[in-house]
Formats: sequence, C-alpha cells, structure tokens
Amino acid sequence: MNNVRVGFCLCGSYCTFSKVIPIIEQLVKEGAEVTPIMSENAYSTDTRFGKASEHIDRIESICKREIISTIAKAEPIGPKKLLDIIIIEPCTGNTLGKLANGICDTCVTMATKAHLRNNRPVLIAVSTNDGLSTSSKNIGALQNAKNIYFVPFRQDDPHFKQNSLVADFEKTIISMHNALEGRQIQPVIL
Ligand SMILES: Cc1cc2nc3c(=O)[nH]c(=O)nc-3n(C[C@H](O)[C@H](O)[C@H](O)COP(=O)(O)O)c2cc1C
Repeated sequence: MNNVRVGFCLCGSYCTFSKVIPIIEQLVKEGAEVTPIMSENAYSTDTRFGKASEHIDRIESICKREIISTIAKAEPIGPKKLLDIIIIEPCTGNTLGKLANGICDTCVTMATKAHLRNNRPVLIAVSTNDGLSTSSKNIGALQNAKNIYFVPFRQDDPHFKQNSLVADFEKTIISMHNALEGRQIQPVIL
C-alpha cells in the first residue's frame, strides 16, 4: 500500500484507543502515509483509559507527523486534495450524528466534509453504546450515502449493553482496500 495517503481520525471513544493505535502502527508499517487527526475532545480529554498527552505522543511518534486537531488545520484537506481516504476510527455516536446531518463543527467533521468534496472515500469504524438505538438512524443514513463505507461491526455486549455496537478493528485495512476500490466489504454486520 505504498504511498496511500490516509487521514486517520480518532474520536472520543477512549476505551478503544488501545486497540486502534496498533492499527495505525500497522498501516504505517505497511507503507501508508498516515496523517493523524483527533477530535477536539479526543485531543484534550484525560480519562481512566489514559492521558490525552500520552495518546498524542504515541500517535505522533508512530506517524512522525503532528496531529491535526483544529478545524482551521483540517480545512486544507479538501482544496489541496491531501488524502486518498479518511478513516474515522473510533467513530463516536456524536460524530456519526453530525456526519449524517451535515454538521461540521469539529476537526474530524471538517476533515471529512473537506475530503468528501473531492469525491473520495471515507471509512467509518463505529464504537457507540447507542448504535442500535439513537445512532441507528444515523448509521442507516450514512450507509446510504455516497463514498461512505463501514468497517464491519457487531454488538459488543448483547446481554449487558443491548444497543452497543463496535467495529472489528482488525478488519480496518482490508475494509480500506475495498473502499479505495469503491466497494463495501461484506458482511458488514458480524
Ligand atoms: C471515558 C469516556 C468514554 C467514552 N466512550 C465513548 C464511546 O465508546 N462511544 C461514544 O460514542 N462516546 C463515548 N464517549 C462520549 C464522547 O467522548 C462524547 O460524546 C464526545 O462529545 C465525543 O466527541 P467527538 O465525537 O467529537 O470525539 C466517552 C466519553 C468518556 C469520558
């Protein structure tokens, strides 16, 4: 995958960072040029899953690039045609709702909007406890939208969190190759 230019956007599903950051590492090892992007919340919030500064240092050292974390820094992605694909992983219920409704008030939604104007693919890896409730309609709307693809997902804890969905992050790279060729990898529901 030499020279595929990937914009990798992390949103505030902090519990998944330990699984998602190794996927960024894998992309870089396989030759992708990864531009890291973090939502303002992901970039600035310390949680029980780690300090923001620790995540930032780790991601920047893997990608050898500064993280984009403001709307102003994300905006040139469109006009300068900087990326071949955007991966939003993890994608929160909050960001799903914004993307499905044309709201652009974070660096992740700005990067995505800017990139979509170039008719290029966006790959979403969901992680949200309301995936089968409030966010369900937003996932449906995005599945029906041009140039949007999903990493296959499943219920992560059907007995204790009935509405929770999470992507199979291990399928990110194969999903990306499919999306770059205009295909949704199947099955999308695991
Ligand atoms: C510790 C912690 C874990 C969270 N995990 C999730 C999650 O897995 N999925 C989700 O949709 N929101 C989760 N949230 C809520 C989001 O961080 C919140 O909706 C935020 O506004 C998301 O902003 P963003 O989409 O711009 O990153 C979590 C919040 C905290 C503090």
